[in-house]
Amino acid sequence: MTHPLRLGIAGLGTVGIGVVKIVTQHGKLLEARTGRPIEISAVSARSRSQDRGVDLSGFAWEDDPVALATRDDVDVYVELMGGSDGPAKASVEAAVAAGKHVVTANKALLAHHGQELGEAAEAAGVMLRFEAAVAGGIPIIKSLTEGLAGNEITRVMGVMNGTCNYILTRMYDADLPYDVVFEEANQLGYLEADPTLDVGGIDAGHKLALLASIAFGTQVNFDAMELEGIERIQIEDIEQAAEMGYRIKLLGVAQMTGRGLEQRMSPCLVPATSPLGQLEGGTNMVVVEGDSIGQVVLRGPGAGEGPTASAVMGDVIDLGRGLSIPTYGQPANTLRPVRGVKATKPAPYYLRLSLQDKPGALAKVAAVLGEAGVSINRMRQHGHDDKTAPVTIVSHKTTRDNLDVAIAGLEATGVMAGHPVAIRIEEV
Ligand code: HSE
Repeated sequence: MTHPLRLGIAGLGTVGIGVVKIVTQHGKLLEARTGRPIEISAVSARSRSQDRGVDLSGFAWEDDPVALATRDDVDVYVELMGGSDGPAKASVEAAVAAGKHVVTANKALLAHHGQELGEAAEAAGVMLRFEAAVAGGIPIIKSLTEGLAGNEITRVMGVMNGTCNYILTRMYDADLPYDVVFEEANQLGYLEADPTLDVGGIDAGHKLALLASIAFGTQVNFDAMELEGIERIQIEDIEQAAEMGYRIKLLGVAQMTGRGLEQRMSPCLVPATSPLGQLEGGTNMVVVEGDSIGQVVLRGPGAGEGPTASAVMGDVIDLGRGLSIPTYGQPANTLRPVRGVKATKPAPYYLRLSLQDKPGALAKVAAVLGEAGVSINRMRQHGHDDKTAPVTIVSHKTTRDNLDVAIAGLEATGVMAGHPVAIRIEEV
């Protein structure tokens, strides 16, 4: 019989258990596709006694993930613990040093240490695979490194945090404020242990940094990303954006410019009728644009047991087949260091103003915008009470610098009844 591919799995949470289930339930299918059996030799997690609903008695147990990663009967170390440092980093380094292939779902680890880990794996002659780290079950790493490898990629963008997309679509569907929906998401168990990773845009930013590296052949540079979460999105903005024909999404965009790499993860308005605008609930979507392909849209579950375990297994099967794909679609040691730059390309903006309802207020707003070079495309005044008049404006394309000048000018008019809200409108 062909020599089996033997896994050591560290982390028996949702994803780890999903991997155990696939390996134990689909043995024949995996063997037929891989050309050899896939087996689990040993597992590791924080608590041995916890009932996880699956029989783990056939696998050796290691309390220490480093010990698991370096066992003689482990060919592939599957790291599913999470965390950018600590045991995850130590065990991946140990696995590589011991000549084991690594499969991980750990976007934080790779966003912070992906360069050095990739180089270490290449020097050791082993593979570091991370399909499950980006957009859960969507095979976006495979798409970029294999199917689209003949393209010069011009832009990668997407909605890559299911929790944020759930919160934003639920706010819209149920007309509920952010705080109420955040608590709902918490009750449903959607939020990471540190919710800032989700709602602060960090988790999605980690994923975008990895995609940008593959797409543009540049070293992972998460620290240079423009990052803004969804915490400040108000139900009024969801409603007004909808009235103007848009949805608000936590959207990541990466593109190479003459000045450097632009990476931003921030709330944006997208047309309600676009594929991104219609993305509901916890689903993810990644859009890739290349010189030959034009545009490809991949949509699917971005998290959860089955989808993430599915992505892990895709990597495991590739390793079992002996497939050798460079870490980032090219070897890590050939990636270029790149300067991160702020987005300067003009874009239309959504502006929501709360004006004091008195004669001449709107004229002052128009004058300030005009002086800053911000041209109004559409404007709507709606639902004003006795004292304030809410006004929503969609601008023509303008730079963020001009817009910031306009906002400072608006604040100084003396006719504002609250701070202006400005959100970029992304062309998708
Ligand atoms: N918290 C993440 C999400 C899970 O909501 O998409 C996958 O990173």
